[in-house]
Amino acid sequence: MSESELPIGIFDSGVGGLTVFRAIERRLPNESLIYLGDTARIPYGIRSPSTVHRYAFEDAAFIKAKRVKAIAIACNTASALASEDLAREYSIPVLGVIEPGSRRAVRLTSVGRIGVIGTEATIASHAYEKAMFSIRSGLDIISRACPLLVPLAEEGWLNHPVTQQVVEEYLQDLKEAAVDTLVLGCTHYPILRPVIDQVMGNSVRFVDSGEAVADELAEMLESNQLLKRGAGRRSEQFYVTDSASRFKRVAELFLGRPIDHLETVELGAL
Ligand code: DGL
Repeated sequence: MSESELPIGIFDSGVGGLTVFRAIERRLPNESLIYLGDTARIPYGIRSPSTVHRYAFEDAAFIKAKRVKAIAIACNTASALASEDLAREYSIPVLGVIEPGSRRAVRLTSVGRIGVIGTEATIASHAYEKAMFSIRSGLDIISRACPLLVPLAEEGWLNHPVTQQVVEEYLQDLKEAAVDTLVLGCTHYPILRPVIDQVMGNSVRFVDSGEAVADELAEMLESNQLLKRGAGRRSEQFYVTDSASRFKRVAELFLGRPIDHLETVELGAL
């Protein structure tokens, strides 16, 4: 099999990376995709940098062993803490979500006031601030950790009154600060998008890392001559490290279609 025929690997701690999976699927409909959700160890966002770094390397090693032509780190937390080291370590392209999301946010803002929401670990890493300030100085960036949103998304409470209340509480300061652009700096958050949209109102521009990374992945594959040619049969495989039925329920709810190849694996067995 030529290299361009190989699948693209995508990983996250759970269902959140499906927002990236869906964006890649839409942007690159011919490509075969392999997805890993490390559901046994979710959430990553409350863990120390060294633990997240280790998890990210174990996830990437699993994906790489499946023979992929590129890896998209569909997790902001893992991207913030390990994407540079992973990109250095691997000979295939490895793309995190922070840089593409930051570039998009800086492009979108008119007043230069940008909100960033993410897990505690992502916010504490200041990865978004660093990336955005390296593109443009003088921005006003307001960041907020929203740790309860990941369990709400994993639970499939996409449009629940409790989700509404939690989102209102978390986003209050950002609304008052009148940010004109909001980075959804955790791949779980676009799953809760209807509620987030409703709370923030439609004058705010949203940056969904999934869409940003899908566009940059397409460019990267193109420039490395790795795009799959023709509309041959594509495949998709999903792997989780814990209960497949739980993942399947929320994944199918979010993707709006059944998922077939789903397997529970043990990363330590590598
Ligand atoms: N989806 C992941 C992210 O984008 C994190 C969720 C978690 O805390 O595991 O940061």
